[in-house]
Amino acid sequence: MSYLFIANWKMRMHFNDAITYFKKNETELLALSTKHSLVVCPSFVALSPLIELAQNTHIHIGAQDCSPFKDGSHTGEVSAISLHEIGCDYCIVGHTERRIQFNETDESVAEKVIRLLENNIRPILCIGETETDTILTNTYAILERQLRSIFVALHAHKKQNEHFIIAYEPAWAIGTGVVPTHEYLTSIFAWLQSVVTKNLAYNSFQLIYGGSVDEKNCAQLKRIPFLQGFLIGGASANFAQFKAIV
Ligand code: PGA
Repeated sequence: MSYLFIANWKMRMHFNDAITYFKKNETELLALSTKHSLVVCPSFVALSPLIELAQNTHIHIGAQDCSPFKDGSHTGEVSAISLHEIGCDYCIVGHTERRIQFNETDESVAEKVIRLLENNIRPILCIGETETDTILTNTYAILERQLRSIFVALHAHKKQNEHFIIAYEPAWAIGTGVVPTHEYLTSIFAWLQSVVTKNLAYNSFQLIYGGSVDEKNCAQLKRIPFLQGFLIGGASANFAQFKAIV
């Protein structure tokens, strides 16, 4: 089975690091991309040069965020239109770090998804519960709320025949070295598969997992039914580790 591997470089890789990493490992990245789908998500400023370097290859370059607004007076924001113009074809939205550190709401995440679809950019929608949610057994209610706003927005904007990537990332697994148990993930992915199938009837989707994925745990994670790929943070910044995972 072919998997989707998304490297989320966050703000770990600065501009020069991103270009050097890509140039140094280009041949091996190319080889990996012939067997699996690879998306590399650097910071905004490194997007254009990486898109140019990855031109005519199977490696996709994605952004880590975009503005919920189309255009206008929004200092510091980057529009989905600009991302499309530079040739960016994927974009992460609703990452837990953005929801927590920048107070992103379900509604603004849904607006971002719509802006991306308007510009033919494939959204990588992140959802996930916090540690407190898990302790309070609120996980499914949180996931349901995060997804609901997307379903409502898609319906309101009559969006059909789109393809989504939905990344389940519990906040307590991100960058902690802690990965949910096989049973926990099996029930979450079965639930996601059923809820998303029901609500995205006219669209297609892939379910992926993120949170402390490394070369040791990914083989076991691949056994989770309905899991089709990975969103990889820390381990993707080290090429040897990323390659071992893929
Ligand atoms: P991590 O990050 O692999 O470092 O846990 C995953 C993510 O935040 O996307």
